[in-house]
Amino acid sequence: MKNNIIIMIFWVLAMGTLFGKPIFAESTKDISALKVKSELVTEFHDAYKNEIIPNGKIREFFIEAIPGEIEFVAGKKTKVWTYNGKVPGPELRIQLGDTLKVNFKNSLPQSTTIHWHGVRVPNAMDGVPGITQPPIPPGESFAYEFTPKDAGTFWFHPHVRTSEQIERGLYGTLIVENPKEPQYDKDLVWIIDDWAINQDFQIYPHFNTHHDLMHDGRWGNMVTVNGKTNPEISVKPGERIRLRLVNVANARIFRPFLGILSAKVIAVDGMLASAPIDFNGDLLAPGNRIDLDLTIRPSLKGTTIPVQDNLTNNPFLLAKIVVGEERVNTSGFSAPANLKVPEWSKAHQLPVDKEYRLNARRGGDFGIEWTLNNKAFGEHKVLNLHHRQFYKIRLVNESSRLHPMHLHGQFFKVLTRNGKSVTENFFRDTVLVKGNETIEIGLIATDRGHWLTHCHVLEHAEAGMGTVLHVN
Ligand code: C2O
Ligand code: CU
Repeated sequence: MKNNIIIMIFWVLAMGTLFGKPIFAESTKDISALKVKSELVTEFHDAYKNEIIPNGKIREFFIEAIPGEIEFVAGKKTKVWTYNGKVPGPELRIQLGDTLKVNFKNSLPQSTTIHWHGVRVPNAMDGVPGITQPPIPPGESFAYEFTPKDAGTFWFHPHVRTSEQIERGLYGTLIVENPKEPQYDKDLVWIIDDWAINQDFQIYPHFNTHHDLMHDGRWGNMVTVNGKTNPEISVKPGERIRLRLVNVANARIFRPFLGILSAKVIAVDGMLASAPIDFNGDLLAPGNRIDLDLTIRPSLKGTTIPVQDNLTNNPFLLAKIVVGEERVNTSGFSAPANLKVPEWSKAHQLPVDKEYRLNARRGGDFGIEWTLNNKAFGEHKVLNLHHRQFYKIRLVNESSRLHPMHLHGQFFKVLTRNGKSVTENFFRDTVLVKGNETIEIGLIATDRGHWLTHCHVLEHAEAGMGTVLHVN
């Protein structure tokens, strides 16, 4: 017996295996992975802040979700759902350090909530029914209160029957200004949406149709910028503009094209890039934001510049930039940047911590369910993440459909696409995973709580495409 044990120990030491599993190799691999991970955490440092110290100022707003009417086309009234009677809803503009307090009233015929897309909020303010708060019934109120930790372009929308409520017009923006950043001559927000409208100019009332679910969600037949079709936006020659693009459509991807204007991307999904990047055919998937730094050259005085969507071979007009006559001096400053965005080049050496296969199956309320690892939301297993640790997550699209995947409560960086490393110098909260594409992302879990992760094609999300990350 003793002999047998000695022989076994000898065998294990000599061969470095136990029941066929290498012991030394594994553990050195584990140790070096841990070492790389801690280096990535160090490199991250405070690329964005763990916590924010409130400056004591409370900015209070009242928002009511209530049915209303708007005129997309002159003389034709379309029934919509609104925040405070308008589509888009209010633009809440506060400064970094301010505490936002929104006294919200639900005057819709359905329950609802508000989710603050991209904002690192305390978990209880995230607006997700069944995870962070019960739905707010018709006639009831709820107070949302938090101090955003990041400056940037964010938006808010319901998280109950989301594919219906957003399509009916419920969304607004939250702009958090950083007083330390230079002032642009103009700061504009373009909220881009598309609508499925029928002949009498009403919202096509069937949501989550089989067609939408089989494909890339609900793509409409009318596109609006700030609630208008092809609006004219007046600017002055010489002006330097921060133009914040927000895609609030249920499912449509945009590829905005500025024609003869050239612009730089300074921020993506709210967060500043480490340096400005040429804006060149970038995709704006549902949920995404892109902030542009745009100077109207004085020679453009008196001209009109069409801004198009160039996603497909049939480009269409989004808006017109109308350049006035009166010239202003261009503010000269270097564009704001976050020099602390980590490269995380060493992340490539790491194994994947979690893989999600984006797939679908027959069944469910709509006849088709969109799933992650063959599980619809509700059957999902919560993924536990440790606070301040690095994780590498792989998204494998097993379908030929588009899935803009969105993480609540965390930002991440794209590391690879189809096995090739990519060097994006910014964080995101939403990444478009194209048909049959594989994307790896890296993140440091910075905010505690239960965070929904889902496809931002809202019909796919309604039909099951979501799971939960738990940071503790
Ligand atoms: Cu705009 Cu759950 O997301
Ligand atoms: Cu999807």
